[in-house]
Amino acid sequence: MLKLAIFGSGSGTNAQAIIDAVEAGRLDAEIRCILSDVEDATILERARKHHIPAIHFDCAPFKTKLDGEAEQKVLQTLEDHGVDFIALAGFMRIVKDGLLNEYAGRIINIHPSLLPSFPGLDGGKQAFEYGVKFTGCTVHFVDAGVDTGAIINQKCIGIEDTDTLESMMEKLHAQEHIAYPEALQWIAEGRIKREGRRIKVK
Ligand code: GAR
Repeated sequence: MLKLAIFGSGSGTNAQAIIDAVEAGRLDAEIRCILSDVEDATILERARKHHIPAIHFDCAPFKTKLDGEAEQKVLQTLEDHGVDFIALAGFMRIVKDGLLNEYAGRIINIHPSLLPSFPGLDGGKQAFEYGVKFTGCTVHFVDAGVDTGAIINQKCIGIEDTDTLESMMEKLHAQEHIAYPEALQWIAEGRIKREGRRIKVK
């Protein structure tokens, strides 16, 4: 069973999909805590509603990364809650060496594009504005780069001429909510096999 921490900065619909999968018995995990760098983020409200410890941490003075004192506090919190695996779900900061080393190979992320296309901020919007006809979401391991880690799971959607950015994002989020719990369950079952960059599901 995974002893999971979820990190997020916003609405937390992916966290909700993970909570729902655990509660429905589709995901063999215990969510030990949900953490956010944004004090009033909806993701923390979702945690409280499900009686999951909801923890805010202040990342100042850094604007875009989790580092320094905040990183140390987060590491302590994870240890206190017995966390052995981390799922980033809309966490809008770059994680640095302290966390990456302590949880090496045990941090994954979801990104709103088919990586390696459109990494970084607003992957969904980037794809829409580029004019691609297919896009999707990617669940991947986190490494020191930005959205460069080995790919675990991807789901595609088509972009129709009638789609707006909003309608496309709605379809994309629906696929994220399937892809993320699915990937976590593969990991919980020990079905992930790494061959260099390639991830195979046994
Ligand atoms: C999701 O679409 C996720 O892919 C994206 O943020 C959204 C969070 O939504 N993540 C990134 O862009 C990371 N670079 P949620 O808070 O409703 O789960």
